[in-house]
Amino acid sequence: MKILVTGGLGFIGSHTVVELQNEGFEVVIIDNLSNSTEDVLKGIVAITGKTPIFEKLDLRDKAAVQDFFKKYTDISDVIHFAASKAVGESVANPLLYYENNISTLIYLLQELQQKEESHFIFSSSCTVYGQADEMPINESASIKPAMSPYGNTKQIGEEIITDVTKVSGITAVLLRYFNPIGAHPSIEIGELPIGVPQNLVPFITQTGMGLRKELSVYGADYPTIDGTCVRDYIHVVDLAKAHVIALQRLVNNNNLDKIETFNLGTGTGSSVLEVIEAFEKVSGQKLPYTIVGRREGDVVSAYANTDKANTILGWKTKSTLEEGIASAWEWEQKSRG
Ligand code: WQD
Repeated sequence: MKILVTGGLGFIGSHTVVELQNEGFEVVIIDNLSNSTEDVLKGIVAITGKTPIFEKLDLRDKAAVQDFFKKYTDISDVIHFAASKAVGESVANPLLYYENNISTLIYLLQELQQKEESHFIFSSSCTVYGQADEMPINESASIKPAMSPYGNTKQIGEEIITDVTKVSGITAVLLRYFNPIGAHPSIEIGELPIGVPQNLVPFITQTGMGLRKELSVYGADYPTIDGTCVRDYIHVVDLAKAHVIALQRLVNNNNLDKIETFNLGTGTGSSVLEVIEAFEKVSGQKLPYTIVGRREGDVVSAYANTDKANTILGWKTKSTLEEGIASAWEWEQKSRG
């Protein structure tokens, strides 16, 4: 059974390809290499010994998407990661995000809806909740107006998929990630931010390597344990394994509804200062940082209620925050070494 993984050379995509191959799935990757390189393919093969089929393709090219499905007539299961994901960039360039995150989704779904039966797993995000009213956040929490075009594309994406499942043979799972961090224990694959990292952990590890002078902590006057924002940092391998379980659920027709939604997090919140402390512990070095003003669009706190994923998917995270950070630090040292 061939599984299409779009964005399969990206951070979460590549870790999911490894776990799919470990479970015996044959993987076809589509990636336009806008945020990755073919070296990631070598990393995947180094881990599993299996070479996925790789098609370099930009999903914004509708004809190319159509040709792909003419070539691979036996693909009816898709895990869709390919999207732009930088909050700040989306504010500066909204049309890039609406084109890249929405039109590509539409082209994929147009192909799948022509099939008798198909399965679709969507890479969504806790960002759809905005600042949720209560912690931990469960899947029935209200969807607040998006705080960025990036977040809006995730909300719109979920709505599009919901509507299409009602009138097609497509069955879907929406996976709302909290904050993915870390790298595969083999240190063959990991996060490869291009340019200045927007996210906390890669910025920390690059600062630890001396590539950045210091970390700017965006605000320490929030109503939290120590004034800094709280997030739910989930190890990328735990996250990847959840995708395989969700796919198995779909292909075995164990899903309860045409569309199901799951929060994927650890269920524990960690503040920015706690993440810094964890880094200093695993690296044995002090991290230079300065408290600066708040970052536009940040929510105060976001961590997952994981009951639904734990009970229905039978999935639970295994790695601790420190293990996630330690793997990110090892990866940073190896990939810059
Ligand atoms: C975490 C905390 C910052 C950098 C976003 C998207 C989410 C997902 C992950 C794609 C915040 C603070 C950060 C820095 C800092 N996107 N921070 N200094 O914003 O929670 O989530 O990225 O998969 O959908 O919304 O993640 O890592 O940017 O920030 O103080 O240099 O770290 O203020 O409190 P975020 P983040």
